[in-house]
Amino acid sequence: MKKTPIYILMMLVALACNKPVTTSQCNVLPLPQSVELSNNEFVLSKATEFVVGAPENDKRILEDYLKVAFGALENEQKSNRVKLVVTENIEGISSPEGYSMTITPKEINVTATSGAGLFYGIQTILQMAGENNTLACGTITDEPAFAYRGMMLDVSRHFFDKEFVKKQIDAIAHFKMNRLHLHLTDAAGWRIEIKKYPRLTNFAAWRKPGLWKEWWFGDRQYVNEGTEGAYGGYYTQDDIREIVKYAQERYITIIPEIEMPAHSEETLTAYPELSCTHEPYKQADFCVGNEKTFEFLENVLSEVIELFPSEYIHIGGDEAGKASWPNCPLCQKRMKDENLKDVNELQSYLIQRIEKFVNSKGRQIIGWDEILDGGLAPNATVMSWRGTEGGLAAVNSGHKAIMTPGAYCYLDSYQDAPHTQPMAFGPYMPLEKVYSYNPIEGIDEEKAKLIYGVQGNLWAEYIPTEEMVEYMVYPRILAIAEIGWSNPAERNFSEFRERTITSVEWLRAKGYNAFDLKNEFGQRKEATMQWNNLAKDKNISYNNGMLYSNSYTAGGDEALIDGVHGGWTYTDKKWQGFICGGMDLTIDLGEEKEITAVHADFMQMCIPDVWMPAEVTVSLSSNNIDFETVAEIKHNVVRDEELSFKNYGWKGDTAKKARYVRYTAKSGKQGGWLFTDEIEIN
Ligand code: ACM
Repeated sequence: MKKTPIYILMMLVALACNKPVTTSQCNVLPLPQSVELSNNEFVLSKATEFVVGAPENDKRILEDYLKVAFGALENEQKSNRVKLVVTENIEGISSPEGYSMTITPKEINVTATSGAGLFYGIQTILQMAGENNTLACGTITDEPAFAYRGMMLDVSRHFFDKEFVKKQIDAIAHFKMNRLHLHLTDAAGWRIEIKKYPRLTNFAAWRKPGLWKEWWFGDRQYVNEGTEGAYGGYYTQDDIREIVKYAQERYITIIPEIEMPAHSEETLTAYPELSCTHEPYKQADFCVGNEKTFEFLENVLSEVIELFPSEYIHIGGDEAGKASWPNCPLCQKRMKDENLKDVNELQSYLIQRIEKFVNSKGRQIIGWDEILDGGLAPNATVMSWRGTEGGLAAVNSGHKAIMTPGAYCYLDSYQDAPHTQPMAFGPYMPLEKVYSYNPIEGIDEEKAKLIYGVQGNLWAEYIPTEEMVEYMVYPRILAIAEIGWSNPAERNFSEFRERTITSVEWLRAKGYNAFDLKNEFGQRKEATMQWNNLAKDKNISYNNGMLYSNSYTAGGDEALIDGVHGGWTYTDKKWQGFICGGMDLTIDLGEEKEITAVHADFMQMCIPDVWMPAEVTVSLSSNNIDFETVAEIKHNVVRDEELSFKNYGWKGDTAKKARYVRYTAKSGKQGGWLFTDEIEIN
């Protein structure tokens, strides 16, 4: 038996309530701006005629796409038709990517002011048609909220070939995304052929065999192309042309990123004369004092600009250590000559000079938000990743910003309970968290116009395989797609999740290794409810000046006795963090109580330096002077790669009377973090 399509069920419900089926009920992702559906149907079949009226290039692109998307279109019998036409303007639509669509039983009529708009209309048809090839009749008026809707793929830490990149272009285009940012260069390997500098690809693109983490935490050696077992690869210039063309035919712009002045160990090992000390394997930052650096970067960028028609070229700019610059005579001379007061201004000198060069070729630069340090280049667009502050600073000074804050948009973090997932880099960031992001929240209307868009980033340090890329990207990138396209007022997570489950099925059927959202494990159980115990809402004091960090207060002094547990990540504002060597606190129960247990949970996540305690003590007192130690626990803290949780405390065979309970924990690693979420006394 055929399943009844979901929209028909929705229409039946809506009809029963005497309401038209509207935007939030249509099974399209990203959610269109405005939808009105009725209970008539249009059925796509082999006898459906497709007619495209568009400028020549778009007509060719769209007809080719329709052939692949809908199968053979050459049938003589014509029972109904889909008409796609570019017109000059469309009422109610201001974006060139918007489209308007009317669906009657005999015809689907899509109009747009560009080929891109028609392409997005086609995606809506594909999604509405579903498995039954049946669309509800009605009208849709649709356009994106943001002009830039992007995904970044890090192809340096692990390399993914052109066919794989093309496969991802197909998927993100289906969800109306329009930018693919390729992180082409980084310490782990240079990934684009540059004719003038062959060592970038016959040496700096290859490393000793193995995964990134083995290489990074090992000897970090590069090897020559052709070395047995070498790990790496790169795109030839022909590969790049092929990717760019493939993307253009799906209305996606590829944005190349060439890192500078930092993340350049591979370049500075291939061409050590471009670093301050001229020693291979020693530097991550280019020498900004050396004219050869500019000659190199401009030569590279000239070839890059030839290959990529994108208006924007990403020039990196993040995480420069700047450590060699203060001791480098050339950098010091540059600072003196240019009247630069510190190394931030020296970095800004490089970015501004590169911007001038890129502008002279008719292009613009994007940089990570560190390009704000030392003064922003006059025409630069800022990609805000260390939070939203960089983006806000950019728009406040009249620059465009692309929002990709790590806490919402870094797709290399855990998407489900960490113990159920493969090793990931960042904290727990499920679909719901990504979806909760609003790039213009708190920004006034005028400034919000400078928010160019939003991007999801897949860094690949811990993503060694294609399967893993897809697993981490899908479906969370769909949340980014919807943030970038749809009206925030219409967004509703549980309804989005349902549409995403349908999209996951579609992705899996198409051969993408999407995460199985339907069987998501979900949040840490402890964090989903209030917990009562003797300590709750009593008095807590922090001893010996061992206070929690201002960065991780979890709400302040009461946080560890408020009955609220943390979730899978210490960044959820429910975990209190200590960086002062440990914690030492006393809870005053107000009067003597019978106590049988005192305990607290800790987490360990070694990559961001979060460790289990090495020592825990629990002691009890009736007068806050004389304490009896009831537990003294030593724990051999060892580095591991998993996120883990452990409960430390005392459990008595018989109850003890006490009013004051002191709990101390010593950090498992000197200088490392200690995180706990609640002290429980029973
Ligand atoms: C970044 O994550 N370093 C941009």
